Amino acid sequence: MKGRDVSTELNIASGSPATSEADAVVVGTLSGEGAPVLAPGAEEIDAAFDGGLAALLAVAGATGKADEVVKIPTRGTVAAPLLVAVGLGKPGADGAPGAEQVRRASGSAARALSGTGHAVSTLGRIDLAAAGEGMLLGSYTFTEYRSNGNGKAPVARVDLVSDDADAEAVLRTAVAVGTAVRTARDFVNTPPNDLFPAVFADRAKALAEAAGITVEVLDDTALAEAGFGGVVGVGQGSSRKPRLVRLSYAGGATPRAKVALVGKGITFDTGGISIKPAAGMDAMTSDMSGAAAVIATTILAATLELPVAVTATVPMAENMPSDTAYRPGDVLRMYGGKTVEVLNTDAEGRLILADAIVRAGEDAPDYLIETSTLTGAQQVALGLRTMGVMGSDEFRDRVADLARESGEDGWAMPLPEHMRAELDSRVADLANVTGARWGGMLVAGTFLREFVPEGLPWAHLDIAGPAFHSGAPYGYTTKGGTGVPIRTLFAVLRDIAANG
Ligand code: BES
Ligand code: MN
Ligand code: ZN
Repeated sequence: MKGRDVSTELNIASGSPATSEADAVVVGTLSGEGAPVLAPGAEEIDAAFDGGLAALLAVAGATGKADEVVKIPTRGTVAAPLLVAVGLGKPGADGAPGAEQVRRASGSAARALSGTGHAVSTLGRIDLAAAGEGMLLGSYTFTEYRSNGNGKAPVARVDLVSDDADAEAVLRTAVAVGTAVRTARDFVNTPPNDLFPAVFADRAKALAEAAGITVEVLDDTALAEAGFGGVVGVGQGSSRKPRLVRLSYAGGATPRAKVALVGKGITFDTGGISIKPAAGMDAMTSDMSGAAAVIATTILAATLELPVAVTATVPMAENMPSDTAYRPGDVLRMYGGKTVEVLNTDAEGRLILADAIVRAGEDAPDYLIETSTLTGAQQVALGLRTMGVMGSDEFRDRVADLARESGEDGWAMPLPEHMRAELDSRVADLANVTGARWGGMLVAGTFLREFVPEGLPWAHLDIAGPAFHSGAPYGYTTKGGTGVPIRTLFAVLRDIAANG
């Protein structure tokens, strides 16, 4: 096996992009009425074209719409032999493109630059952080399992033009965020035969310890002894035994608050005895995306020394049908003592999460954020790009707002009180599913709420759609794991660090 794919090296450009000896120079275009308009940042380049660059690009077919890439040779006008014009779409009300437009265009540019050695990008002048993140996400590749690489290598080096006084610090943060997303994507993209609970726990431990984070791993014996009935029940059908990983970053000398993160780590979800249909089951390799995101986010918080204490509680299990598997009709005694009647073994995520949420609550955190590829109903309700955000009203709305600000789309959803009664069980404290299929995303959130300590501000992010991308790449979104919701979680941690 080869190691991790090398990441594109990012630097702050020194000097004018017009005289940079790069192989390519990136400029942004905005869509207007008909012809494209050159985005801010490309002034020296446009001057080298005698102010006629937008008109020239229009001749080559450019319109400035999002994700459009138009390449033209520069024929000695500027030092770089190739000009890559990338569309940003329509500017916002203030006349400037927003951060997500820049991130997305930078990602499209990154993909268009694959095979290139050295590029200089003027997008950094519009939004340096977004341009940097977009480059690192768009140039991501996963070639570990290809015998002959994956076509062209990602662009090796990109210099970002910036006029920011603190450009180096902004870039350092962007690189840390990009690295976190790439780490999570690597976890998600590693196939389930190689990434099962013990391996996932080992890799998370190694990465976290390298970042100076305290790590605790409970194996199946320790889980059974401590009474983690949800994790043990779901994990017992597999010969690859479950784990519970806890990562703790102290938040420096004076942390502003204590945040508990919880992420679903089902390394493969067959559905268990309530087995899933064969078509599309392979996508269930991504059922540990929530776990990957909270692990990477905790490491990110430590790397950037955020003044917030973060503890990630990550249950890991493989949901398999076998003679040792849990069955419909079983009653599990969850960590903390509540009992759950299993009516469908494919509603396994909420079972391992219930244990983890109760354990996380024991630390008396100020906030709890849980994320999971929890329901197909999320995809039905909100589609493949918008996560469902549930939880306590005020904190849920704050998280949903920050999800949209981060460019990872999210929408607040309710947890109607009447749904709790639908989870009443014949024999236990509650059942893991209802008889009807209506509002499945909200039912799952309602189930989780039963395990959240009273009064604790909490949020549940259902990322079943946004965590994994099966279609053609667009912007900075490559095929496979996306790294959602790391940027949302990071935005929330930063907001808590600033405002409590
Ligand atoms: N991991 C799935 C949810 C899922 C579906 C994630 C599609 C990503 C894409 C989850 O464990 C599951 O199977 N949920 C069931 C719940 C049902 C049995 C109540 C579902 O959504 O069908
Ligand atoms: Mn399932
Ligand atoms: Zn699942």
